[in-house]
Formats: sequence, C-alpha cells, structure tokens
Amino acid sequence: MKVMLIGGTGLLGKDLVREWSGDEVLALGSRDVDIREVARLREIVEKECPRWIVLAAAYTDVDGCESNPERAFTINRDGAANVAQAAKSVAAKLLFLSSDYVFDGKKTSPYETGDSRNPQGVYGKSKAEAEVRLLEILPDVCIARTSWLFGTGGKCFPDTILKLAASRPALDVVNDQRGCPTYTVDLARAIIELCRNDASGIVHVTNSGDCTWFEFAREIVKGAGLQIEVRPVSSAQMARPAPRPAYSVLAATSLHRYGIEMPAWEDALERYLKERNS
Ligand SMILES: NC(=O)c1ccc[n+]([C@@H]2O[C@H](COP(=O)([O-])OP(=O)(O)OC[C@H]3O[C@@H](n4cnc5c(N)ncnc54)[C@H](OP(=O)(O)O)[C@@H]3O)[C@@H](O)[C@H]2O)c1
Repeated sequence: MKVMLIGGTGLLGKDLVREWSGDEVLALGSRDVDIREVARLREIVEKECPRWIVLAAAYTDVDGCESNPERAFTINRDGAANVAQAAKSVAAKLLFLSSDYVFDGKKTSPYETGDSRNPQGVYGKSKAEAEVRLLEILPDVCIARTSWLFGTGGKCFPDTILKLAASRPALDVVNDQRGCPTYTVDLARAIIELCRNDASGIVHVTNSGDCTWFEFAREIVKGAGLQIEVRPVSSAQMARPAPRPAYSVLAATSLHRYGIEMPAWEDALERYLKERNS
C-alpha cells in the first residue's frame, strides 16, 4: 500500500519513517508541501494517490500558539481540513494526530474518546476544531489522540531535562499536571497497526501508565544515572503563556479494540535513553 506521511520531518514523523517497512512511504516536510496551500496539496495528493495519508504535521509550539493564534488555526485546523478535502478527492483514508489538550483536565479518571472537548488554550482549540471539521469532511477519518511525546528525532521533555541537568545543581519541575508520556517509536508502531487495521473514529494512543512532569523528570534523571536534585513545584510557580490541563490521562479502551497494547512509559523511557546514548 502507498502511504503519504505529511510531517515526515518532525519528532514523530522521523520514527514513522524508520519504523514503517513493507509499504511504500512517501514522507513530506513543510518544504515539500505546506498544508495551507490548497492547490499544491491537491496536486501532490492527486499525483501520488495514496491509500493512506498520515497527517503528523502541525504547529506544535503550545506557548507560541497563544501569541500567534492565526498561525495555529491556519495550520492546525484549516491545514488539516485542506488535507481531508484532498484525501476525499482521491478516496484516501486519513489518520490525523490530535492531542490530549482538547480536554480541560478537570476529570480525575482517564479520558475516554467520547468525553466532551473543552480545550483551554489556543493549541488545544485549534486541534479540537480540526477534529470537528475532519469528522464532517471524512466521517471515517481516524483521529489518534496522543500526549507528551518524546523521542530522539527532535526537541522533547527528556532531552531538555538532560541538557539542563548538565549545567544546574537542581531542577524545579511541575507536579500538578498528570498525563501519559509517549515514546514516538511506540506511537509510530501503533499508528502503522491502526492503518493496517483500517481504523476509523477517535482512538487514544499513549504509552501505558501516567505520571506528573516532576515524576517523569525524576525517572529521567535516575535512568540517566545523574545525581541532580529534582524538586516538585506548582504550575503557578512556573507560569507559562498557555494553560495546560491538570489531568490529561487518556484511556486505552479505544486502542484495545484493535488488539494493540502499549508498553509502560517507564519501559519506553529506558529504551529512549539507550537510543539517545547509542
Ligand atoms: N509533541 C507532543 O508532545 C504532542 C502531543 C500530542 C499531540 N501531538 C501531535 O502529534 C503530531 C506530531 O507532533 P510532533 O511533536 O512530531 O511535531 P513536530 O516535531 O513539531 O513536527 C511538526 C511537523 O509538521 C511539519 N509542518 C509544520 N507546519 C507545516 C505546514 N504548514 N505544512 C506542512 N508541514 C508542516 C514540520 O515540517 P518541517 O519540519 O519540514 O518544517 C514537521 O514535520 C502533531 O499533530 C502534534 O500536534 C504532539
């Protein structure tokens, strides 16, 4: 089968390219196609006629989205809708990457796929509105919501922690936001399975287990064998431009329907640290 991967140069995209074998994968970065440019997008999709389009491209700077909402909505919502229209024109299936930030974080038990969206920041709003638009354009779209990505293909939380740990005696990390860290290698494998299973509808795809950013940082430092002190602080003490959900754990029920089990985030972190050192 032919697969078009839009966002092939990103953190997740690079692992999708590495992990995907046995199918023809055409990986595109923003230089190959800008999803805001309808004519070019349609031209390339109609020329290639893929069976699947995986849309991993997005404006992912959560704080940047607050100061540049126009960019957030034109790429994350309108760009995604452009891709859906192009997919429709060649009867391609679409898998869209969405986010835990579509939720407000007020729940205290894992979010199910049918729970109401109530995003708090611009990034989450742009993703939530994209989901609604895509479901209108392509009712059998597959929306894979994920969270807290880490991998060796780009900037991510463990990488930042390890870099900071090299130059500081102690690190303050927020302990009142809980979510599911997700290794891009494991997410890539799950996405490939979803496409092969002809998935549709909303699916939650994260590593299993959950933690706070503080607990995640503590495990990163421990796994890397560093002695640095990690101290828990509140979000109020570490004010950021974009609000973040206090709780955004995603339930795995939807993924289990496809027979996919995700490894625990601690196991994923161990493999990431090995990969980073190799
Ligand atoms: N990172 C997370 O923690 C996280 C959490 C939940 C959901 N997600 C979602 O997962 C997906 C993958 O995230 P990621 O962290 O891998 O993203 P990323 O590393 O920031 O990569 C973004 C990708 O999007 C491409 N891109 C940006 N603007 C574009 C445009 N206008 N037209 C075409 N391509 C464009 C980039 O291309 P170039 O590099 O070539 O410019 C790059 O390949 C995204 O949909 C994101 O919203 C991420």
